[in-house]
Amino acid sequence: MSDFLRLDKYLADLGVGTRSQVKQMIRKNQISVNGEAAKKPDQKIDVSQDQVAVQGKILSYIKNKYFLLHKPSGYVSATEDSREKTVLSLLPEELRKGLFPVGRLDKDTEGLLLLTNDGDLSHRLLSPKKHVDKTYYARIQGQVSKEDQEAFAQGVDIGDEKLTLPAQLKILSSAEKSEILLTIQEGRFHQVKRMFEARGKKVVYLKRISMGPLQLPPDLNRGEFRELTQGEKLSLGVDKEEI
Ligand code: URA
Repeated sequence: MSDFLRLDKYLADLGVGTRSQVKQMIRKNQISVNGEAAKKPDQKIDVSQDQVAVQGKILSYIKNKYFLLHKPSGYVSATEDSREKTVLSLLPEELRKGLFPVGRLDKDTEGLLLLTNDGDLSHRLLSPKKHVDKTYYARIQGQVSKEDQEAFAQGVDIGDEKLTLPAQLKILSSAEKSEILLTIQEGRFHQVKRMFEARGKKVVYLKRISMGPLQLPPDLNRGEFRELTQGEKLSLGVDKEEI
């Protein structure tokens, strides 16, 4: 991954103006790089070193970072906690700065968790208005039935003001213990567990396998993380690395 960006893109990413506006600013000698007036919009900026100023005011560029973590059980989805191990502690210290988890998985839930410093993306993925699909694999104490499927498709009363939004339940196996996939578009507190409780059943194991376009990679073991690929970033609309 490059740490170089075109000057016009660098300025546009920072919100200085649109790409054509910043080109004009360059023409008007309002932009300097390392103290010298910038001449060309395609001048390469070393994000970690170069000092760029707009009308004499120095900018700082914070690059967005995106990591996909396979959360193990036993970690809380927080940046800090005085008693519990946090998901961020699974990353080396030098990578943690500014990162936070996008949404929460319960301490005993495993699976896909996105860690980023990109507040806009986090908002887009978590906003209830956006209806982003989240799919969970779960093992359930009890026989999951067609009636459960229908109830989830209608929305269930989990003790909140409103019923849950329609959710899609796929039964993988059904006996004394059942295995299911459940896709929900909300992120209410303990939502999957409470949905099954409302049907008189208990979630005994829960793992998130997808969130929006992101899938938990089969080769990413519990506790492991990796950066999002370019394709994953594109799918989230956060491809800001290209020159
Ligand atoms: N639903 C739950 O009950 N727990 C989670 O961690 C995520 C969704």
